[in-house]
Amino acid sequence: MKYKIREQVTTMKRYVAGKPISEVKRELGIETVVKMASNENPMGASPKVKEAIMKTCKDISLYPDSGSYALRSELSKLTGRSMDEIFIGGGSDSLIKVISSTFLNHDDEIIMGEHSFSRYEDNARLMGAKIVKTNMEKLVLDLDDMEKSITDRTKIIYLCNPNNPTGSSFGKNDFEAFIKKVPDHIIIVMDEAYREYVTREDYFDALDYLDEYKNLIVLRTFSKAYGMASLRVGYGFADPELVGYFYRVVDPFDVNLFAQEAAVAALGDTEYLKKVIEENSRGKEYFYKELESMGLSYVVSDANFILWDTEGDDMDIFHRLMKKGYIIRPGGFLGIPGYIRVSISTMENNIGFMRAFKEVLSEIREQEKISV
Ligand SMILES: Cc1ncc(COP(=O)(O)O)c(C=O)c1O
Repeated sequence: MKYKIREQVTTMKRYVAGKPISEVKRELGIETVVKMASNENPMGASPKVKEAIMKTCKDISLYPDSGSYALRSELSKLTGRSMDEIFIGGGSDSLIKVISSTFLNHDDEIIMGEHSFSRYEDNARLMGAKIVKTNMEKLVLDLDDMEKSITDRTKIIYLCNPNNPTGSSFGKNDFEAFIKKVPDHIIIVMDEAYREYVTREDYFDALDYLDEYKNLIVLRTFSKAYGMASLRVGYGFADPELVGYFYRVVDPFDVNLFAQEAAVAALGDTEYLKKVIEENSRGKEYFYKELESMGLSYVVSDANFILWDTEGDDMDIFHRLMKKGYIIRPGGFLGIPGYIRVSISTMENNIGFMRAFKEVLSEIREQEKISV
């Protein structure tokens, strides 16, 4: 080949996103498709977000504020953290890339859970860094194993709490015991994309540790509970010195004006956020009850999705569910064969999904009987 593509790129795999609804409709010729694959908010964004977007249309020809001043100022008021500790990007995906580009040289190492968010790995690979994956036998992050995996080359440790794709989380005591043991030149990225959904009592605010641990970076997003995944806006908190470096690396207009205005509006609608969280908790309880009655084991989730063991062929189940109009994430795509990850949706969709799932399992059982 005449092009000299970097080896890091030639050896990378393309990210497999949840299948879009339009693609499933087109490919399978079905009218009604429900996506429960990408942990999106089934209730959508607050009406205030939509109003803010309409108002912003008049400024469509202008470049956005590259420093996202209004949004950082709002986040500062809400969290009590200073504005120079806050950085914004086009989704936390973009910020993960910024962090990787800022720290990682060839042959540096990152540490992440074996079943954790795949973008940590992809962005490290792009920089030529090595990925050290730690034990997740019980599908929860093993902080002890993470600490034991530290070497002279470790630059970043990714803690995803709650963790995607398992939904599992860890509490304050485990975190405190862990962070004390990590040398302070190693960056700890606490990815809290699902924090708004957490119900465990010993959950903690990672921002409370920023003063003591300058090596801590906290990432959050408007894509999940705020229902703004299409707008692409994520935010982070870190030591101002680090934030200064991140702003050298991030694309100057990474966060478009609509996203900035919408995020400010979303922060102002706490009532709506409360409803979203309540609906998610109701859906989660419904799934737990159904799965228990079917005798299937699931990972207790602190997020807006549930991972469970189908005790069958997840890829087959995935394809059959799709034909019935439900898109989910098969464990085969996540390195956990046999499992499926299902995003919690509206109660109507949850009930429809469960009906379809049970039909699929009995179809498979019938076929197995015939072939015996
Ligand atoms: C753990 C985790 N971090 C980050 C992201 C990226 O979110 P964003 O839409 O803000 O880029 C996701 C998206 O699924 C996620 O699950």
